Amino acid sequence: MKLDIIAGARPNFMKIAPIIEALSKVNDKIQYRLIHTGQHYDKKMSGNFFEQLGIPEPDVNLEVGSGTQAEQTARIMERYESLLLNCHSERSDSEVWESPVLESTFTGMADWVLVVGDVTSTMACSIAAKKLNVGVIHVEGGIRSNDLTMPEEINRMVTDSITDIFYTTSEVANENLRQLGHAESKIRYVGNTMIDTLLKNMPRFTQPKTWKKHNLQAKAYFVMTLHRPANVDEEAQLKNLIDEIVKGAKGMPIVFPVHPRTAKILQGIGIEAPNLHMVEPLGYLEFNYLVQHAFAVVTDSGGITEETTVMKVPCMTLRDNTERPETITIGTNELVGTNPDNVAPFMEKLHNGDWKAGEIPHLWDGHTAERIVEDLLRL
Ligand code: UD1
Repeated sequence: MKLDIIAGARPNFMKIAPIIEALSKVNDKIQYRLIHTGQHYDKKMSGNFFEQLGIPEPDVNLEVGSGTQAEQTARIMERYESLLLNCHSERSDSEVWESPVLESTFTGMADWVLVVGDVTSTMACSIAAKKLNVGVIHVEGGIRSNDLTMPEEINRMVTDSITDIFYTTSEVANENLRQLGHAESKIRYVGNTMIDTLLKNMPRFTQPKTWKKHNLQAKAYFVMTLHRPANVDEEAQLKNLIDEIVKGAKGMPIVFPVHPRTAKILQGIGIEAPNLHMVEPLGYLEFNYLVQHAFAVVTDSGGITEETTVMKVPCMTLRDNTERPETITIGTNELVGTNPDNVAPFMEKLHNGDWKAGEIPHLWDGHTAERIVEDLLRL
């Protein structure tokens, strides 16, 4: 079998790492290419994750870089299609992307493409592949926020509509897919590859420099991440949210690794507070060390709500919906919403020690990638 594995943006890297490790154990039965679309390109957003998680160098980097949703989608589709068709252009125009000849693995068409999660790269590569009759495998298929203002929701819907095999993380995802009319035989509940990575790397979590610099104490600080357009693209919304969180923290330090999207907006606001420590995006091992020892996490990420659930750390999600409801019904997550006025009561609950303890969802056990590869061998 010839398989393409796609990774493009930060949350993809922890999802593919264990799949690649499991594939390396079945030798040549599955020939694969690792394709980085280049959607995230900074060392802090990409390269560091490859190093820390031991992911091999990608066989190909499509180097699409930044752009609007449509620009990124178009560039990824063009370049991935060119790779599948093994196109070499006659034009000297630097805009034309040349498909490289790969000596390490196969060149040209794949039998299957494996995409993970919900980023632009996931959707763009699925479409390019499916139109060339390449089978689509979606890891983390079937989850839905039903919020079409999020680009990720559109990416999920489009990808799932042309997916041949779904590897799912929850019973809710299975049910969503059934309701959409997908055959039971296409739906495979395997668990969560992001949690494989988390459990495997837990012994290697590393105290970041910010710990000593800001004199952090275990279970006595917050970790905060914000990058969703609904929270960060308008200065007033971002400022009001941060103000409420700073107030609600009651003097406890807040470590805030700032996403590049958020950094651009923050430059114009100039927020400062003695307990607010803004730092650059952290490596995987450093970030999760901070989360593991935190009093609580405040975030608008989806993936982090899964990690806090497994580490049993209270998590406040600054979104009005989630595609990962099991982190709320089973785990330690609560939906606060995007209205800054909602923050205070949740902070009270935390400080009063009234937060739920949470359980770990079924099959989030560190062996998901092995289950996926076992199944791939049967395709
Ligand atoms: C993307 C994903 C989102 C994911 C997030 C995690 C989509 C639609 N969104 O959002 O699901 O949760 O990544 O980070 O795919 N930038 C850099 N350096 C980089 C990457 C981006 O400076 O390495 C800048 C870009 O130029 C852009 C901004 O950050 O201005 C946003 O990047 P973009 O890839 O458009 O989306 P994210 O907000 O990161």
